[in-house]
Amino acid sequence: MSNVLLTGGAGYIGSHTAVALAAAGHRVVVYDNFSNSEPAAVQRLAQVVGAPVVTIEGDVRDTALLQRTLLEQKIDAVIHFAGLKAVGESVLKPIDYYANNVQGAISLLQAMQGAGCKTLVFSSSATVYGDPHYLPIDEAHPTRATSPYGRCKLHIEEILADVSVADPSWRLAALRYFNPVGAHPSGLIGENPNGIPNNLMPFVAQVAVGKLPQLNVFGNDYDTPDGTGVRDYIHVMDLAEGHLAALKFLMQHPGLHTFNLGTGRGYSVLEMIKAFEAASGKPVPYTVAPRRAGDIASCYASVEFSAQTLNWRATRSLKDMCESSWKFQQNI
Ligand code: NAD
Ligand code: UD1
Repeated sequence: MSNVLLTGGAGYIGSHTAVALAAAGHRVVVYDNFSNSEPAAVQRLAQVVGAPVVTIEGDVRDTALLQRTLLEQKIDAVIHFAGLKAVGESVLKPIDYYANNVQGAISLLQAMQGAGCKTLVFSSSATVYGDPHYLPIDEAHPTRATSPYGRCKLHIEEILADVSVADPSWRLAALRYFNPVGAHPSGLIGENPNGIPNNLMPFVAQVAVGKLPQLNVFGNDYDTPDGTGVRDYIHVMDLAEGHLAALKFLMQHPGLHTFNLGTGRGYSVLEMIKAFEAASGKPVPYTVAPRRAGDIASCYASVEFSAQTLNWRATRSLKDMCESSWKFQQNI
């Protein structure tokens, strides 16, 4: 068992990862400033875990508080989820994004160095690949960010590479997530974005429950089987277990390691709508709208390196993703 600090642990992916870590016998400590979550999320997390979860309210840019937390809580490893994540907003507010995300990561590394804790798993994103040159996308695919959000992820990955060269005893993993969806089967925790959702699945769920009238399908003239965009949707509990696998791997392997976390399979927007209708028993009315600026036709992962190296694969089905997301949607 080890003590694992989750920055941004009250958020969507962090809270699910906390469940997976607790189930595997680790002690989790949540560190979050609640800028995109609320303390009630940690209460629900505690209900799922069946025990209180130590929670520190703080910003990752508060290096002193972070360092104190690492020492007081005897933290062995950190998973760094905290950050801002809306691509469109990052174009409008680049300074906020660099301050929160890049400065936040530097502050965390300083605190970890000060506390002598050198094991870190970082939430990166498939967005670092930019427009795919080939599919499926493997970890050797060239990187090119197309937004300030994506550039933050790339900058942080580069910082981690430099840290690992300077001191090879650090154990660092950059996990490039594809499209996380779904919720814990309890329906107690899940993705609950503020305002109108930017991403497909939370939008679909809100249409199905009657909160929003209809979905706009952004383009049906892409070079894909049905003309709509294809993405690699991964169940958030599979993603959560990928973090566990990465932590286990780091115990044996210092250095910086980069992994795709996806399923290796793509689904179109229309396939996602159909699957959600089947899972919820509710219609999801939609209309075809123009393409969204910056969108690509298809994006899905090569998962062979992760499977071989981490001994981890996503196992949950599209049905599981939709059913769990629907269960959570009805609870909120
Ligand atoms: P989320 O917004 O639900 O969770 C992030 C959490 O971090 C929130 O609880 C927020 O309050 C907290 N936070 C933000 N800035 C902070 C700061 N300065 N100090 C302390 N806490 C702070 O997001 P998520 O979907 O769980 O994403 C987690 C990570 O995964 C992010 O780094 C995101 O960029 C990355 N990621 C997410 C997706 C996705 O589709 N959800 C895809 C790829 C990568
Ligand atoms: C988005 C982010 C990406 C991030 C990823 C993580 C953008 C431009 N990109 O990717 O950086 O890593 O989330 O999950 O925001 N769609 C609709 N109608 C909608 C919403 C989406 O048709 O209302 C379509 C999109 O055109 C796309 C698919 O659904 O084909 C998935 O969209 P979304 O969930 O926003 O994810 P990505 O665009 O893949």
